[in-house]
Amino acid sequence: METKRIGIILNGVTGRMGTNQHLDRSICAMIKEGGVKVSDDLTLIPDPILTGRNESKLAAIANKYGEATIGKPLKYTTDIQGALNGDHGDYEVFFDSSGTLQRGKFIEMAAAAGKAIYCEKPTATNVDEALRIADIVESHGLKNGVVQDKLWLPAFRKINKLKEDNFFGKILSVRGEFGYWVFTGVDEERPAQRPSWNYRKEDGGGIMIDMFCHWQYVISNLFGPIDRLVAHGNTDIGERRDENKTLYSCSADDSAYTIFVLKDGTVCQFNSSWCVRVRRDDLLTLEINGTKGSAVAGLREVYIQSDGDTPKPVWNPDVEQPIKFYEGWKKYEDNDDYDNAFKIQWHEFLSHVVTDSPWKYTLREGAKGVQLAELGMKSWEEQKWINVNPL
Ligand SMILES: NC(=O)c1ccc[n+]([C@@H]2O[C@H](COP(=O)([O-])OP(=O)(O)OC[C@H]3O[C@@H](n4cnc5c(N)ncnc54)[C@H](O)[C@@H]3O)[C@@H](O)[C@H]2O)c1
Repeated sequence: METKRIGIILNGVTGRMGTNQHLDRSICAMIKEGGVKVSDDLTLIPDPILTGRNESKLAAIANKYGEATIGKPLKYTTDIQGALNGDHGDYEVFFDSSGTLQRGKFIEMAAAAGKAIYCEKPTATNVDEALRIADIVESHGLKNGVVQDKLWLPAFRKINKLKEDNFFGKILSVRGEFGYWVFTGVDEERPAQRPSWNYRKEDGGGIMIDMFCHWQYVISNLFGPIDRLVAHGNTDIGERRDENKTLYSCSADDSAYTIFVLKDGTVCQFNSSWCVRVRRDDLLTLEINGTKGSAVAGLREVYIQSDGDTPKPVWNPDVEQPIKFYEGWKKYEDNDDYDNAFKIQWHEFLSHVVTDSPWKYTLREGAKGVQLAELGMKSWEEQKWINVNPL
C-alpha cells in the first residue's frame, strides 16, 4: 500500500463552513484516520495550508486544529497568490469556502495556477457568472467540483435505497420543509447564529440563492429533472444586528415558498425559511408520498408508512382525534455506517483528482443550482411560472 501526500490550499477557512465542515470534520478527520484510501494500493494523506485575509484568525485555527490533529500548528498564510505560486510548498488542490461574491476571483486565480478546484456552493449569485467560472476551469482542463453535501446525508441515502426497493410505488409528491429560527441579534443577549451577509442581497445573501442550489441537486438526483417552478419570497424580518453589534436593514429574502414540477409531473413543494420555529423531526424534512408508501426524512433518520399501515381517518372536529398518527410510522433501519456528508464528498473529490475516478459534481453542475435560484427570483418578481431550460 503506497501512502502519498496531497497538498490542499483551504481558502476562506476561518468562516463557519470552512472551519467546521471542511477543516475540522473533513480534512482533519481524514488525517486523524491515517488518510483516505482511494484505491486498493493508494492512501492519500491530506496536507493543508490555510489561507485568508486575517492573520490572527488563521493562526488561531491553525493552532487549535493543528494541535488536535498533528500535534503542531497547521501551515497558514495570508499570501494566497504565493500559496498558488508554490512559494509555501507544493499544493495541487485549491478549495474555496469564502463568501459567494469572492468565489469567481479566487477560482480564476487557482485556474491560472493550474490547480484542481473544489468550492462551496453557490458558485456565484447569477448564472452568467457561474457559467463563466465553469468555462474558465474547463478551458484550463482542470478537475473541478462543487459541494453538494446533502446527497450524502444519511436520511437521503436511505430514501434512495427505499426508492431502489420500490417502496414508494409511483412517487406522487414531495414536500420539503426547511428552516429554523435564526435569531435577529436585536436582543444583544441572543446573537444570530448565522453570518449577517446572509440577510443582505448586496453581499450575496438571500434564502433562494442559498437553498435552491441544494434543492436543485437533491430533487434532480433523488426524484428527476425539474421542468418548471413558481416561487414567492419575502423579507420577513427587516432589521437584524450584525457581528459588530450594529443594527442593519435586511435586503434579502429570508423565506421562500416554491412549487417545482418535474419533467414526469411529480410535484415537489418546498418551504424555506429562517423565520420559523421547529415543530417537526428535524431542521429539514422531506415527505415523500407514493402510491405504495410514504416516508419522512430528517437529516439522519427516515420514518416510513406502507400502504398497509395507512390509517383511515374520518374528519370530525367534535371528538378528540382517535388516531395517534405518529404511531403509524416505523423507523427505517439499515446496517450502514454513515460518515459526515462533507467528508464523503471530499473523499470522492480527492479520489477523482488522483485516480481519475468518476465524478459528476462539477462547477457546470453547480451552475444549475444558481440557475434555479435565479429563476426562483424571476418567478417571484414577475409573479408567474418559469420553465427551467437545460443550461
Ligand atoms: N454546503 C452548505 O450547506 C453551506 C452552508 C452554509 C454556507 N455555505 C456557503 O459557504 C460559503 C461560506 O459561508 P459561511 O456561512 O461559512 O460564511 P462565513 O461568513 O462564516 O465565512 C466566509 C469566510 O470567507 C472569508 N472571506 C470573505 N471575503 C474574503 C476575501 N475577500 N478574501 C478571503 N477570505 C474572505 C471570511 O473571512 C470568512 O472566513 C458561502 O458561499 C455559503 O453560501 C454552504
